[in-house]
Amino acid sequence: MRHPELHVRRMLRQLRPRGSWCGARMTTSVLAQSWRAMSRVGSMLRVCRNTAPASCLRPASISCAALIVFGITLLAPVPPLAAAEADVQKELASIRKEIAEIKSEARRQPGRRLYNTACMACHGRNGDGRGPMAGALRVKPRDFRQGTYKWRTTPFGALPTDDDLDRTIRDGVSGTEMVPFGAVISAENRALLVEYIKTFSPRFKDSSELAAAALPVSLPAERPFPRSAGSILAGKTLYAAKGCATCHGEGGKGDGPVAAALVDSWGWPIRPWDFTQGYYKSGRTDRDLFRTITTGLNGTPMPGFGPATTVAERWQLVDYLASLANGRSGFWFALFRAEPTGIVYGSN
Ligand code: HEC
Ligand code: HEC
Repeated sequence: MRHPELHVRRMLRQLRPRGSWCGARMTTSVLAQSWRAMSRVGSMLRVCRNTAPASCLRPASISCAALIVFGITLLAPVPPLAAAEADVQKELASIRKEIAEIKSEARRQPGRRLYNTACMACHGRNGDGRGPMAGALRVKPRDFRQGTYKWRTTPFGALPTDDDLDRTIRDGVSGTEMVPFGAVISAENRALLVEYIKTFSPRFKDSSELAAAALPVSLPAERPFPRSAGSILAGKTLYAAKGCATCHGEGGKGDGPVAAALVDSWGWPIRPWDFTQGYYKSGRTDRDLFRTITTGLNGTPMPGFGPATTVAERWQLVDYLASLANGRSGFWFALFRAEPTGIVYGSN
């Protein structure tokens, strides 16, 4: 005989899409079963009549037939249906558990949904920098798993602060597909994103790493002297003396003798910046250049010159780099650069 549970499942499957038609089929099959049972009882009676006295035969056979018919029509479908119901309940319970887990995950990591909408295409679902768009990009999206970030206010090699990450997300990275999200993602939502991308690297949970990131770096808000022909000239001398030209080239076009061979710590080829373009990856102000020269760019061959130079020397370097732009302000670049328009992420 077929397993009762399988039988009921099959009947339920039949029932689901076709509704009352299948209901009718079920009734017919129950009736057919009863009919078959009745005829079996009939043949039993015939056998009895030939072997026992007629007086004891009638009441026994009638009650026997009634019991069998009753049992088949009413009782038979009940146990398999109950089993199916238990099955369904079990499945429902596991679905409810899964939903609760997803909800609590969302409460713990509220930035995840926004990340998957706005960032995942490039940075990958697991933050590995290998999203579906990454392959087509010349400058590869950051792999968040090492906690290695270029634009920071912290010492060379250290983790960034939350504000550092927020600045990059808000203002973007000029000249790359990392567009500025400031206009389309609110400050609160950017804070959720910062918390979320930090979860990709265990370094953000390490107290000694966090302590190293908290070490002070001298980034004064005001420059100690105004730009002048003298400061630019002093910067030019420093540019040669500190070895900037080896990578960035004598004319600052990013074509120094070692430039072509440079790779970043993720194994991608990387070009030293061309200062004659008049715009920079991370901010166009003197303070932005000062910050980069001081802290260096983690994950790239660009070291931090904070320990090896004085504050005044770094401002002189900034003045020299700015003079290389030769009046170019990056205006056309700013005009045509890609920005996410028409969408507001995380507005719900
Ligand atoms: C269209 C592709 C693209 C999208 C979408 C994108 N990024 Fe990026 N992102 C990049 C690229 C490319 C870089 C690497 C820039 C570089 O190293 O010059 C980058 C770098 C970064 C960095 C590293 C900054 C550092 O200091 O090293 C952060 C942080 C970042 N993205 C956050 C985000 C967040 C958050 C989102 C979503 C709101 C996002 N990105 C969406 C392409 C993208
Ligand atoms: C070993 C090679 C190397 C040396 C030496 C070097 N740099 Fe760099 N620098 C780089 C690379 C590579 C980049 C580009 C990083 C990127 O695009 O992500 C860069 C980027 C920069 C930027 C960032 C520009 C921007 O787009 O924001 C500044 C500023 C800079 N360098 C200044 C200097 C100065 C000043 C010196 C000398 C005191 C110097 N660099 C020495 C390799 C070097």
